[in-house]
Amino acid sequence: MSEKIYIETYGCQMNFADSEVVGAILEGAGYTLCASLEPETPDFVLINTCAIRDNAEQRIRHRVRELRAMQGRHKNLRIGILGCMAERLQNRLMAEEDNVSFVCGPDAYRRLPDLLQQVRSEAGSQRAEVELSTTETYADIEPVRLASNGISAYISIMRGCQNYCAYCVVPYTRGRERSRDPQTIVDEARTLFNRGYREVTLLGQNVNSYSWPDTGFPELMDRVASIDPALRVRFATSHPKDLSDELLQVMAAHPNICRCIHLPVQSGSNRMLKLMNRKYTVEWYLDRVDAIRRYLPDCSITTDVIAGFSTETEEDHLATLDLFRRVRYDYAYMFKYSLREGTYASRHMADDIPDEEKTRRLNEIITLQGQIALENNRTEIGREYEVLVEGESHRSKERLFGRNSQNKVLVFDRIPAAGGPEAQPGTYRTVRVTDCTAATLLGELV
Ligand code: 5AD
Ligand code: SF4
Repeated sequence: MSEKIYIETYGCQMNFADSEVVGAILEGAGYTLCASLEPETPDFVLINTCAIRDNAEQRIRHRVRELRAMQGRHKNLRIGILGCMAERLQNRLMAEEDNVSFVCGPDAYRRLPDLLQQVRSEAGSQRAEVELSTTETYADIEPVRLASNGISAYISIMRGCQNYCAYCVVPYTRGRERSRDPQTIVDEARTLFNRGYREVTLLGQNVNSYSWPDTGFPELMDRVASIDPALRVRFATSHPKDLSDELLQVMAAHPNICRCIHLPVQSGSNRMLKLMNRKYTVEWYLDRVDAIRRYLPDCSITTDVIAGFSTETEEDHLATLDLFRRVRYDYAYMFKYSLREGTYASRHMADDIPDEEKTRRLNEIITLQGQIALENNRTEIGREYEVLVEGESHRSKERLFGRNSQNKVLVFDRIPAAGGPEAQPGTYRTVRVTDCTAATLLGELV
């Protein structure tokens, strides 16, 4: 009987996409993937980890310690750490968490079958595979769709990052930027569409710098969007410095490219942006927002922001609030600055904003953004949207949920009030918005 693997994933969409590559590599080597930890009792638990902030790492460490109890009951159970924490901490992680059998960094997943065999054959051994690559893209591996609902899938189009934002550990954990052969991306998207998938999300740390001889990101989007008008295409993440008019023109030409752009701003203060090495100004950023609104008037815009970066003053913080009021984001991921060892900021800048102060600033941004999101959603009442139906609402079996092109979640009854066919997951239906919260639009089938 083949050994069983359970993969648990933390962090960004790229990690979820990577876990699907890992799943394919291990299935190819004869292992069986389990859908749950219990009652399956796998032979290996692989944890794909995130290192972006300290609290992400603490959560994973807690999980590793929790699994000790299970290892007490199942002596054969081995734990492996994948992803950014494996790359960042390497042997240190195994010295500190001695129930971990191996660490394997994001560019070493092809080594996993060997690694698993080694730690199985040598009781008590610990191994590390953490070499980064300048070429690995896993382009030839067809991911197993682990997290999938059969409707929506991730496609990784590039790996790594070399922007070196001063606070960010990603360039050290994921290595140099490299793009994947566009033909393999288009083929993967077409295969998914033919299997019934209706949405693909193209992933990279900075998709706007995707580059292949004769193909930039706008051309790639054009090719993927041309597969079929019924295939929705999303992408993440865009770096504001590289968001081109050409991409916006390609989006405008393809209604099936979703009207949603994630444009991390990080701060509304030029002084902070400079210290963060973001390579744009507030003025440049607002010009890009204007360009989005010009080409794509119905596009939603979302962002990431960091509160309390090194030397941030009250004035800098107020500038961030001001920028939020000007852009009126549909959604924002909001964080307190967390110092990451090895980054430029950790070597040259003080982590000098007290935690209570970071918390206060963060809470002010969260409160403001909550108001803006609710106000934005209220203006949606009465509008009709084409929604890709995804499944049952988490709150009620009577209702379904799906998302519109803007990536907003709509919740609605299975059957139109006026009667008519029940909505089916994986199909498009028109939904009229009747009510909202800050996070969700409520509606009815038309
Ligand atoms: N501290 C807090 N937030 C961070 N991010 C990246 N590095 C850090 C850090 N050291 C945030 C940025 C980025 C998002 C993925 O995580 O906002 O866009
Ligand atoms: Fe980190 Fe900046 Fe790269 Fe994003 S663009 S992954 S914030 S270094």
